[in-house]
This record gives sequence, C-alpha cells and structure tokens, in this order.
Amino acid sequence: MFESVPLEPFTPLPVAICPVMANISDIEKVKNDISTYNLDTEEAVEAFRLTYLSRKGIITELLAGIGKAEPQDRARLGKELNALKQLAKTRFDEAKAALSAGKTADITATDDPTLPPPPFPAGSTHPLSQTLEEIKNIFYRLGFTIADGPEMEDDFHNFTALNFPPEHPARDMQDTFFIRKDEEDPSRDLVLRTHTSPVQIRLMKEQKPPVRAIMPGRVYRNESITAKSYCLFHQVEGLYVDKNVNLADLKHTLITFAGHLFGKNLKYRIRPSFFPFTEPSLEMDIWWETGNRPGQWMEILGAGMVHPNVLKSVDIDPEVWTGFAFGMGVERITMSRYEIDDIRLLYDNDVRFLNQFP
Ligand code: DAH
Repeated sequence: MFESVPLEPFTPLPVAICPVMANISDIEKVKNDISTYNLDTEEAVEAFRLTYLSRKGIITELLAGIGKAEPQDRARLGKELNALKQLAKTRFDEAKAALSAGKTADITATDDPTLPPPPFPAGSTHPLSQTLEEIKNIFYRLGFTIADGPEMEDDFHNFTALNFPPEHPARDMQDTFFIRKDEEDPSRDLVLRTHTSPVQIRLMKEQKPPVRAIMPGRVYRNESITAKSYCLFHQVEGLYVDKNVNLADLKHTLITFAGHLFGKNLKYRIRPSFFPFTEPSLEMDIWWETGNRPGQWMEILGAGMVHPNVLKSVDIDPEVWTGFAFGMGVERITMSRYEIDDIRLLYDNDVRFLNQFP
C-alpha cells in the first residue's frame, strides 16, 4: 500500500552564504537564466562561459560562499550548486558541438562542383591479386584465353575424368571437403574442388580443340592450418590442346613464363614427377634468393602432357590431338616474391599488412 511520506520542512538559504545570492529562489533564477540563455553564436557562447563558468563567474563565486553558510546547510547547498555548474557545462558543451557541426555541414552542403572532393584514403591491391594479375598478363601475351569453373565439383570432374583411380589417396577424407558423400555410389559425391584441373575437363567438353587457356581460381583442401598451409588457396591451371603439341612446347612455355615473372636471371630446373592426368609429368623449380635468406630451390608448378585417358573422357581422339597442361599455386609464388613467411597473413585482411603492398 502506498503511504504518504511527510516532506522535509523547507529551509530557506541563509542570506550570509554569498555576496551574490540572497536565497534559494536566486539559485532558481540563475538556473533559469542558464537554461534559457541564447547560445546561437560563437560570441554568445563565450559570453556565457565568462558569466557562469570562468574563475570569476557567478557559479565560482557562489561556491566560494558555501564556507560562510551554516554548517548544517553546507552539504545541501554544495549539491545544488554543483548541479547548477553541471547544467552550465552541459549547455556550453552542447552549444560548442552544435556550432562546429553546423560549420562542417556548411562546407559539405556546398553546391560548388569545382571544389575538390573530400580526401578518401586509397586502398591497395591485395598481394595475391597482384601476382594473379601478372600471371594472367603473361599468359595473355602468350596467346592464352581465360576460363573458369565452379568451386563445388562432382566426383567426375574433380577425379574420375582426370584419371584418378577409385582408391587414389587424394580422394581421401583427409584432403577433400565433401559436400555430399555417398558411400555406395562415389560417383554421386560432391566436393569443394581440390584443384583447378577439373576446369580443363569442363573446357574440353565445351570447346573442341584447339584449346589454349588458363584457368585461375580458388581451391580447397582439408588440411590443418599452419604457417605453410591453409584450407583454401589459389591455383592457375593451364591447358593447350592442338595437333602436334609436344613436350618441347611445354618446356618453352614454362620457361618463358617463369622468365617474365621472376626476371631475366632466372635459374630453374625441371624434374620428372607424377600426376594421374599427365604422362609424362614434371615439376618446375626455380632458384630463389632474397634479402638475407640463403638461396633455395622452390617448386612453382606441376605439368605434363595430357594423359590419353583424360582426352578420351571428353571424347577427344588422342590419336589426333595432343596437349600439355600445368598447374601452379599462387600463394606459394606470392610468398616467395614478397618474402611472406606465414600464409595466414594473406587471409587476415589486416590493413597493417595490406598497406605494405601499394
Ligand atoms: N592439379 C595439380 C595439383 O593440384 C597441379 C597440376 C599438376 C596441374 C600437373 C596440372 C598438371 O595441370 O599438368 O597439385
């Protein structure tokens, strides 16, 4: 139940508390003055500050008078005056802010189209995109077109058509992100593509030879994330199918490419290798020396002559047509060019890192 509480008896302020103030009704008057003070102009705000907030202002004077008040009234008086001071400060701060906002608004609201635009910090191209652009440019000049394919692939394009035997370890759960896994019928599996090679298959199904294209894109591997490996990365696939394409053409293309990307003094080696979709297969390493690091061989790509089974899987007659293919990792090349020692930096989008690649 609500009970009415008797109000404390009202005690008028003693006259002696300060020279300016006679009683509480005067505090009320100052409060009213502060609340209604017109603060439209810079000059008015400054006058307000001098009147109420400066060392010689009314509130300072009132506060100084507290000591002269009756001891039992001092606390209450102090409270009243502090509230008054706070009110004056708030009005002052708000008026200042409003004035400066108005100024900015005036400048930006101008209709003068000849004024320069407000400064806008320029971003920079991501180091991976920079490398990718250069790779694309080089192959463009070598007469390659650009193709792409989906990042979610079926078993046929990612594995079977590329001559992966059914029990090949790359189909294992450890490397592949499965979107759909069908234990009884693996041909129904859907995966995040583990490489860009399936785009070769799509391209050859769409376009009969001659075909000469590169296929850049993202690929995914179910590997643990470390400084050296990430669950996604980028590859650039290459394919050239025509009559009489041979290993010398492949070697010439790769050496020309690497020379453009890494410079004239390029030192490289080509080693035999194995991929199910090429025969023979090879890998290309370049000798890489930067800054204060000792030089070392770095593998930049895998390649080979397209396996006859791959051509057959897309109804291209391997007796008539031959081709070469290659695939390279964009992260690995980018990391060595810029001496980046942790692949995760490429995916953090930390501007302190990105700003270093103007
Ligand atoms: N797909 C291979 C990989 O991801 C790279 C590769 C090697 C692509 C040889 C090719 C090739 O086209 O001929 O490791």
